Amino acid sequence: MYIRLLYLLLLGVASITTHASPTPAVLDDGHDLNQVPAFNVTNFEASAMVLSNRNFYKFNVTFYNEAVPVHCEAMGTTINHQLTSIPQTWCPTDPGDVGSGYGGNGTGTNCQQSNNTTTGPGVSFKWTEQPDGSAALLIVRRINDRVADTAVYKVTPDCIPMMGDDIFRHQVYEGPENFSVPAYRSSELG
Ligand SMILES: *[C@@H]1O[C@H](CO)[C@@H](O)[C@H](O)[C@H]1NC(C)=O
Ligand SMILES: *[C@@H]1O[C@H](CO)[C@@H](O)[C@H](O)[C@H]1NC(C)=O
Ligand SMILES: *[C@@H]1O[C@H](CO)[C@@H](O)[C@H](O)[C@H]1NC(C)=O
Ligand SMILES: *[C@@H]1O[C@H](CO)[C@@H](O)[C@H](O)[C@H]1NC(C)=O
Ligand SMILES: *[C@@H]1O[C@H](CO)[C@@H](O)[C@H](O)[C@H]1NC(C)=O
Ligand SMILES: *[C@@H]1O[C@H](CO)[C@@H](O)[C@H](O)[C@H]1NC(C)=O
Repeated sequence: MYIRLLYLLLLGVASITTHASPTPAVLDDGHDLNQVPAFNVTNFEASAMVLSNRNFYKFNVTFYNEAVPVHCEAMGTTINHQLTSIPQTWCPTDPGDVGSGYGGNGTGTNCQQSNNTTTGPGVSFKWTEQPDGSAALLIVRRINDRVADTAVYKVTPDCIPMMGDDIFRHQVYEGPENFSVPAYRSSELG
C-alpha cells in the first residue's frame, strides 16, 4: 500500500516532468523520496458555474517556513456543468515577477536558468478526474531542476456532488476549504 502510494507520487512527478521535458527517464532508479512538511491549503474552491460552460479551481497554499501563501487558480471548460481535469497550471509565486514560475520565460532577476524554461523553481497544480468519480488535486513545488516536493489530495465522489435542479445543476466541491496535505520530496540523483 505504502509502496503503491510512493509509486503513484512518482508517476505524478514523472508526468509533470515529462510534460515539461521530452526525457521520460525520471521514473527509473535514481530517485529518493522523503516526507517533507505538509502543504497547507486554504480557501479551496472548485465549481462548475451555473448557466455557463466554465468551471474554476482556486486556492492558496502555504509552505513550511513561508509566511505568504501562493495563490493558484485555473479555469476550465465543461459541456455538462461538471468539474473537468485541468492540466498542470503554474501559480505565480511573486506578484511582481510573472515570469518567475517554472515554465515562464525566466525574465525575473532571480532566475538563473534564463534560457532554459524547463528548469527553475515554481509551484504548479493539476486537477485530475478519475473514472470512479473521484478526483485528485496534485500540487508540485519545484525546488530546482532536480528536486520537487509533491502533495496529492484525494477528493471522494461524495465531496463533489451535483447541486441545484434542472438548468441550475452544476458540480461543486463541498469538502473542507482548508486542509493539510502530506508532501514528499523526490530527487533525481545526478
Ligand atoms: C499547517 O497547519 C498546521 C496546523 O493547522 C500547522 O501546525 C503547520 O505549521 C502549518 N504548516 C504550514 C506549512 O503552514
Ligand atoms: C490568497 O492569496 C491571495 C494571493 O496570494 C491573497 O490576495 C489572498 O488574500 C489570500 N487569501 C487568504 C484568505 O489568505
Ligand atoms: C518567451 O520567449 C520566446 C522566445 O524568446 C517568445 O517568443 C515568447 O513570446 C516569450 N513568451 C513570453 C510569455 O514572454
Ligand atoms: C543557455 O544557452 C546556451 C546556448 O544554448 C548554453 O550554452 C547555456 O548552457 C545555457 N544556459 C543555461 C543555464 O541553460
Ligand atoms: C534545461 O536544463 C535541464 C537540466 O539542467 C536539461 O536536462 C535540459 O536539457 C535543458 N534544456 C534546454 C533546452 O537547455
Ligand atoms: C480557512 O483559512 C482561512 C485563511 O486562514 C480563514 O480565513 C478561514 O476562516 C478558514 N476557514 C475555516 C472554515 O476554518
